[in-house]
Amino acid sequence: MNEKPPLKASHLSRLRNWLSLSGAVLVVAALFAFMLLFAVDLFAVHANPYMGILAYVVTPMFLFAGLGLVLLGYILETCQVRKALAGVQTPFILHVNLSRRRDRRLLTAFVIGSFGFIFLTALGSYQTYHLTETNSFCGATCHVPMEPQYNAYQHSAHAQVACVACHVGPGAGNYIRTKVSGVRQLYRTVLGNFDRPVRLHNVNQRPAEETCQSCHWSEKHIGNVHRKFKRFLADETNSPFTVQMVLKVGGSDPVHGVVEGIHSHMNVSNKIEFIALDPERQQIPWVRVTDADGKVTEYRSEDFKDDISKHPIRAMDCMDCHNRPAHKFLSPNAAVDQAMAMGRIAPSIPWAKAKVVEALVQPYSTRAEANEKIAAFLHAEYPDDPRVDALIKEVLVIYENNFYPEMKADWRAYPDHIGHKETNGCFRCHAGNLFNEDRGKTIKGSDCNACHLITAQGAGAELEKVNLKGHDFFHLDSEYLEPNCAECHNGQNME
Ligand code: HEC
Ligand code: HEC
Ligand code: HEC
Ligand code: HEC
Ligand code: HEC
Ligand code: HEC
Repeated sequence: MNEKPPLKASHLSRLRNWLSLSGAVLVVAALFAFMLLFAVDLFAVHANPYMGILAYVVTPMFLFAGLGLVLLGYILETCQVRKALAGVQTPFILHVNLSRRRDRRLLTAFVIGSFGFIFLTALGSYQTYHLTETNSFCGATCHVPMEPQYNAYQHSAHAQVACVACHVGPGAGNYIRTKVSGVRQLYRTVLGNFDRPVRLHNVNQRPAEETCQSCHWSEKHIGNVHRKFKRFLADETNSPFTVQMVLKVGGSDPVHGVVEGIHSHMNVSNKIEFIALDPERQQIPWVRVTDADGKVTEYRSEDFKDDISKHPIRAMDCMDCHNRPAHKFLSPNAAVDQAMAMGRIAPSIPWAKAKVVEALVQPYSTRAEANEKIAAFLHAEYPDDPRVDALIKEVLVIYENNFYPEMKADWRAYPDHIGHKETNGCFRCHAGNLFNEDRGKTIKGSDCNACHLITAQGAGAELEKVNLKGHDFFHLDSEYLEPNCAECHNGQNME
């Protein structure tokens, strides 16, 4: 059976070469991996945003590479046939002759090799799928754009909760949207054209209230919690100033008490809706409450004259107060207070509070520049203090955990709505600036004792005067209390 193959080889037979055959194996492996990934994803608990990249980008790439090889083999073979027809040389067409031992061995090796390859591909794609489920993939692989959120997350109460548990909404619609946005994120990361700071464009990646409620039972919000804020003034002695309070976090469920605490917003029977004029929901000019009896009350600010049908109306949920449960960026003022309260920055270093805050807030464009300039600044401020190196080390840790100059991410980019001191937070609605139709009354809960009772404050002997009915807040000079706190307290040093 050693006769020459017919010169006018058929088109199909031109595919009989090692290159085309290997390409075909690759094509089969890619199809196999695709089906497997598709099936795994279909039965997975959470939709995985990066699954789209694997199934619809990476696997097809292998598929096309395989098809390419098949075609390349075909073209090379065609050239050979042409040359042969022109009599330049004899074409080589792969002939497998099963009666020949060598051919049998080669074929067996090829078949086993191909199956092995397909198996490994399947295994590999499954493993890759698992990798994309992990937090380190979401946070660390995509290092530059996700670094601020990932770092902050690792220091949060939710460091053990998977990114996908909060960020991938339920339902088939979200499933598809998540896939599409996963592909877009990859594309933007590769091109480096992502937003700085990063934003959630896809509203479905915003955690839904149901997500939080899967762990935090709304009916359970009862009673008060005790909170202590240890602050330090920006004076020479870094004078301590502590505020101790009970925060009225109850109110969600009439069965467990009166519906009037902070979580009364979450009462199943009343509903609070609002309009926000900006994506960070900082400006809220209109609010509507529907109470348990179905009575509707609208509140609006005096200068908001728009027809409300022109704006999307949002029902208030956990994220309108807890917008930083996993990614909190401390202001320089708060971060330095925290470090001092914990003794990591010695309050005995003169002017430390003011100087460190000043060093942190300068406009640096890279982390390296910040590290260098912060160190130089503090060295110049404390040339003879032996504690300066320890101080610098601590300040750089604060900077590293709360400032991301390359991503323009810090407390200004991501304001925290939970309180009212450094951002308007609760005072977006509770500052007494929203009125109902007849301008008669404003939203309930806008006096200083509605949300908390200040039980003690100040320093030294002053701080020991506990009053469980609540002190009036004494604020260095009480006259300060008029404009909203955040108009002066901007997280930095105040003039
Ligand atoms: C406890 C729930 C929760 C977990 C867990 C969580 N996030 Fe978030 N994330 C949020 C909330 C809430 C927002 C803000 C939503 C808003 O502004 O409406 C957010 C916002 C973001 C943003 C947009 C930028 C910003 O800060 O507003 C990114 C990016 C992000 N998260 C990434 C991650 C990554 C990566 C992980 C895992 C390492 C993760 N998240 C884990 C709740 C969570
Ligand atoms: C998988 C479960 C889980 C989910 C989902 C979850 N949490 Fe939590 N959360 C916890 C646990 C556990 C703690 C307590 C951690 C601790 O005490 O160290 C906690 C603590 C908190 C706290 C108090 C601690 C603090 O200062 O941050 C708040 C507020 C909170 N969660 C809000 C939320 C919100 C808002 C969401 C939805 C975006 C959410 N949680 C989703 C498990 C969860
Ligand atoms: C009106 C704003 C607001 C809304 C809406 C809100 N919370 Fe809170 N929540 C607070 C405040 C303020 C605290 C106290 C914060 C502190 O300790 O500094 C708090 C505390 C908590 C705590 C920890 C304190 C405790 O022991 O009870 C959890 C957990 C929590 N909230 C979960 C939720 C969840 C889940 C939702 C949505 C179903 C929600 N909250 C809606 C304002 C709100
Ligand atoms: C989007 C606007 C809005 C925001 C933001 C908001 N609230 Fe409210 N809050 C309301 C409305 C509306 C009511 C119901 C008032 C009424 O029934 O007249 C309410 C009621 C309350 C009550 C009950 C008062 C009472 O005596 O019944 C408390 C306490 C409260 N809010 C605390 C907070 C805290 C704390 C924050 C910030 C973490 C906050 N609110 C943020 C709109 C808001
Ligand atoms: C709508 C609810 C609400 C009202 C009204 C309110 N507060 Fe607060 N306040 C809060 C919450 C919530 C926090 C805790 C913030 C946090 O957990 O970081 C807070 C924190 C504080 C702190 C500690 C701030 C810090 O970070 O050092 C002071 C002081 C304070 N409030 C004073 C006042 C005074 C004075 C008034 C009246 C002008 C007032 N509050 C009205 C909800 C309210
Ligand atoms: C007119 C400007 C102004 C207003 C408004 C204002 N403060 Fe202050 N506050 C100051 C100044 C100035 C200091 C002293 C800062 C320092 O020495 O570090 C201060 C100090 C404080 C401190 C102790 C030091 C610190 O940095 O935390 C607290 C707590 C505080 N204010 C809370 C509030 C609260 C809560 C409100 C709103 C109810 C408020 N302030 C409104 C100007 C203001």
